Amino acid sequence: KPQRLRRWRVWTSLLLVWITCATHTSMSALANQLRGLDQGGTAPGMRQPGEVRGTLTRAKRGWVWNQMFVLEEFSGPDPILVGRLHTDLDVGNKNLKYVLAGEGAGTIFAINERTGDIHAMKRLDREEKAEYTLTAQVINRDTNEPLEPPSEFIIKVQDINDNAPEFTNGPYHATVPEMSQVGTPVTKVTATDADDPVYGNSAKLVYSILEGQPYFSIDPNTAVIKIALQGMDREMREEYLVVIQAKDMGGHMGGLSGTTTVTITLTDVNDNPPKFSKSLYEFTIPEDLGIGQVGGKVKANDRDMGENAKSTYNVIGGDDKDVFEITTDSQTQEGILRLKKPLDFENKKSYTLRVEATNVNFDPQFSGSGPFKDTATVKVAVEDSDEPPVFTQPSYLVEVHENTGVNAVIEQVAAHDPDITGSLVRYFIDRHTDLERQFNINVDDGKITLAKPLDREMDMWHNITVTAMEVRNHSQISRAIVAIKVLDINDNAPEFAMEYETFLCENGKPGQVIQTVSAVDKDDPKNGHFFIYSLVPEMSNNPNFTIKDNKDNSINVLAKHDTFRRQKQEMYYLPIVVSDNGSPPMSSTNTLTIRVCGCSKEGIVQSCNVEAYVLPIGLSMGALIAILACIILLLVIVVLFVTLRRHKNEPLIIKDDEDVRENIIRYDDEGGGEEDTEAFDIATLQNPDGINGFLPRKDINELQNSIVLRLFLLFSKGHVVSSL
Ligand SMILES: *[C@@H]1O[C@H](CO)[C@@H](O)[C@H](O)[C@H]1NC(C)=O
Ligand SMILES: *[C@@H]1O[C@H](CO)[C@@H](O)[C@H](O)[C@H]1NC(C)=O
Ligand SMILES: *[C@@H]1O[C@H](CO)[C@@H](O)[C@H](O)[C@H]1NC(C)=O
Repeated sequence: KPQRLRRWRVWTSLLLVWITCATHTSMSALANQLRGLDQGGTAPGMRQPGEVRGTLTRAKRGWVWNQMFVLEEFSGPDPILVGRLHTDLDVGNKNLKYVLAGEGAGTIFAINERTGDIHAMKRLDREEKAEYTLTAQVINRDTNEPLEPPSEFIIKVQDINDNAPEFTNGPYHATVPEMSQVGTPVTKVTATDADDPVYGNSAKLVYSILEGQPYFSIDPNTAVIKIALQGMDREMREEYLVVIQAKDMGGHMGGLSGTTTVTITLTDVNDNPPKFSKSLYEFTIPEDLGIGQVGGKVKANDRDMGENAKSTYNVIGGDDKDVFEITTDSQTQEGILRLKKPLDFENKKSYTLRVEATNVNFDPQFSGSGPFKDTATVKVAVEDSDEPPVFTQPSYLVEVHENTGVNAVIEQVAAHDPDITGSLVRYFIDRHTDLERQFNINVDDGKITLAKPLDREMDMWHNITVTAMEVRNHSQISRAIVAIKVLDINDNAPEFAMEYETFLCENGKPGQVIQTVSAVDKDDPKNGHFFIYSLVPEMSNNPNFTIKDNKDNSINVLAKHDTFRRQKQEMYYLPIVVSDNGSPPMSSTNTLTIRVCGCSKEGIVQSCNVEAYVLPIGLSMGALIAILACIILLLVIVVLFVTLRRHKNEPLIIKDDEDVRENIIRYDDEGGGEEDTEAFDIATLQNPDGINGFLPRKDINELQNSIVLRLFLLFSKGHVVSSL
């Protein structure tokens, strides 16, 4: 606090005397700043040391004296006086000395140590450094002791208009649609000025247009470039070079200026219609030009570009038969005339077409400037070309009955040379299509004859190719297909549809259906087949069988009685006559073989074997199953037994003297364990009663067989008349 107070006292005693050496402008600048201070604001550029801000608010008026001003870029013969330091202590005794320190002290600024005058020794540039901070002090010349504490002040470099405006982003490029309205903004430019923007008008810029009128204008303040002329046409001129000037000092005399260029390109709008380069096009097209081939090209030019220049082409007249079409080549924008149908010189020798080109895109803004389309006339001359013969029909369909005689004419084909020369034509059959040489053709008149008899049941279609060749030029050939369909005649008799295997149940009821019989016929009558079945006349009163018509081209064969027996007659042969309804009708005799069989109650055939007839009849099914089950059981026991024996490595040979007949097998016998080999002597089974005189056998297989047979006899005794 005491230090601050002391410094305050220094400032009151050490006066900075401002020397009037500046121009009028620097005076007014100072005046401005003073006015700013009066109004309570802080003058721009005024330095306010932080540590004294508290006191500043009370005595700010005095602070203006800690600044000095010096004009930039000042050059004269002598150093320029910036200002003077003065202290209250300086009362005339020459013992005082002023000392300067800080930025530029001694180099840029020099002080007269006696008078306190400060001079600028160099030219100063505000744009380089706008202010310098320095300290001043008064010292005793003799003792070199400071009489006052040092005090700080600022030398401000005052702006003069020494910098011209600059367009740093230039040169510019901009686009604007052609035909834009006056006032349409195009682009905006910007210039900068390095001079002090807040002091004076050195940096106050005004824009003007130097080149580019009357097409464009610029707003002096915003620098927005605008369209200034109505109806600017890209097709007339596309690019404009506009020169813009920026001038400082608010555009007044004496201001500095800078320029830039703006290249403005007009973009296309669809303001031009397509226009045919000619009003009449003439093409010559050969009559044999293929369909889809190019016959000629037309072009409608459009002064616009890109999408706006695109057109579609159409044939709008002169093509009643719809022979031509016109498409757009997307690359060249040409209209390509193509054939949709073949031309014929002999029929029509010229066409006069109306062709229209229409812009694809349409801008309603220009709807007033007429239709965006154009028409032209296209004359097409058809040119005669040497053409091959032409058949009266592209293909022929012939129907021939299969019984048609050899050498009969079945068809006559004809072809003629369409050219004016009218050559004679010769006819041939392509033998690749008639490998069997079924047909012949007359070379001169095209009559097709039959070379071999036809058979519909072998080949229904004979599709042959006939060629016609001009006599004048053997390379002029054309072909036609002759499809020959062979028509049916009734030349086949019906016959059984299959080889029937027919069975008849012995115990069936009279009238039982034993077979359904149907027939087939290779012929193909128009109204379908109708078969008539009958028994051969000599058997029409057959006592055993009869037939019944099912009304669907099949019959049922029925048994007439129930006394068919295998022993009596095993097979019956039943000849049946099948006839069709053709004219004349064809018929065949087919024999049905009927076999007599034994059936179950349900009528399922069980045995058709005569030998098997002797097998049990009275024996019921249940009994048979029971017998079988017992046999199997016994077999299992025997096999088990034998296996046990084998296990013990006991010989199975049974000695004659050990074959004791009195032995009785008791299944409840208790065995003697593994060691007891005698208890279940198998030999005892071999011949329990010996009635059939079987000899005891040592062979184990024989042994088993005999057991089975005997057991079977035991079980079936009384039921079976056996041949065993
Ligand atoms: C022959 O031509 C006819 C008619 O075009 C066709 O229906 C038939 O299938 C053809 N036959 C053969 C074997 O190509
Ligand atoms: C015969 O016809 C062929 C095929 O059209 C053609 O290339 C050739 O020039 C003709 N020859 C003559 C002698 O006209
Ligand atoms: C009918 O069947 C009996 C035997 O059952 C046989 O003798 C006779 O020849 C058969 N008749 C004919 C026409 O087959």
